[in-house]
Amino acid sequence: MRVFVTGASGWIGSATVDELLAAGHEVTGLARSDASAAALQAKGVRVCRGDLDDLASIRAGVEAAEAVIHLANKHDWSNPAASSAAERAAVQTIGDALAGTGRPFLLAAGVAGLTLGRPAAESDPSPFHGPDSPRGGSENLALEYADRGVHAVSLRFAPTVHGAGDHGFIAAIAAVARAKDVSGYPGDGTNRWAAVHRSDAARLVALGLAKAPAGTRLHAVAEEGIPTRDIAEAIGRALGLPVTSIALDDVQDHFGWIGTFFGMDLAATSTVTQELLGWVPTGPTLIDDINTGAYSPRTPTAG
Ligand SMILES: NC(=O)c1ccc[n+]([C@@H]2O[C@H](COP(=O)([O-])OP(=O)(O)OC[C@H]3O[C@@H](n4cnc5c(N)ncnc54)[C@H](OP(=O)(O)O)[C@@H]3O)[C@@H](O)[C@H]2O)c1
Repeated sequence: MRVFVTGASGWIGSATVDELLAAGHEVTGLARSDASAAALQAKGVRVCRGDLDDLASIRAGVEAAEAVIHLANKHDWSNPAASSAAERAAVQTIGDALAGTGRPFLLAAGVAGLTLGRPAAESDPSPFHGPDSPRGGSENLALEYADRGVHAVSLRFAPTVHGAGDHGFIAAIAAVARAKDVSGYPGDGTNRWAAVHRSDAARLVALGLAKAPAGTRLHAVAEEGIPTRDIAEAIGRALGLPVTSIALDDVQDHFGWIGTFFGMDLAATSTVTQELLGWVPTGPTLIDDINTGAYSPRTPTAG
């Protein structure tokens, strides 16, 4: 299939592209810079130059493709509303361009805010609708296109898609630990995070493209929930730092933007996804990755 991937140069996107190429797909990636374009071309990916703010470039990429995987996100944590607005506009553009074609449209989503007090499941619909909601309500917007002749599928990634080279949430938590000389966890540290290794997440995306029915919500989740205290303890060991509880009232102040997420219970299951796709996660656990240095790269020393 000719597959158009936004965010093809990103953390999940670059691994996904490798899976798609290995499965025999012809991949075109949206690239907003020369560096991203060169990285894609080096692995045999066609480039569609463009930006999330240039909807015509996205439309052109979609119209030339037989399937679309949308993974780009501005991730502007200082201005989440701007990221959400761009996300919603991109999803609307892709959905409109695909309406009536029956073509696959897979989009990235998350598990935050889906449930209270229990792990989120695939059967839990997102409560987020409309432009002012998290991620611009993009999951529901995309899935609504299933009624308009689009084979829409949501990819709900665990809050940490981890591995060596990750610059996402766990890297941000480790950076706070380094900056503050202490590895903290929120309150009693019993709130949990689901996790998945990047290789498993990328394999799931390729399987989802091949097998998921329209309207499906897939969970890229290998570990249901790791207590944040365990995560902080592993980071403390890896960085040689003391570990401490951060009072819930101080979490935002201590962790900054990542505190919003680190303070949440973000557990999720993937039983339905595993059965539907025959997907079996095999990558290292989050704690294995932290223990083996994925978040504590050695800095070369002088001499
Ligand atoms: N990683 C996780 O743990 C995780 C968890 C839950 C959900 N997600 C979601 O999964 C998706 C992929 O995440 P990721 O971790 O792979 O993100 P990432 O590594 O930050 O990559 C983001 C991608 O978006 C592209 N991009 C950013 N701003 C853009 C713009 N203005 N125009 C066009 N492209 C732009 C980047 O291009 P450049 O390479 O040129 O910068 C990059 O390819 C996102 O929607 C993310 O929110 C990720």
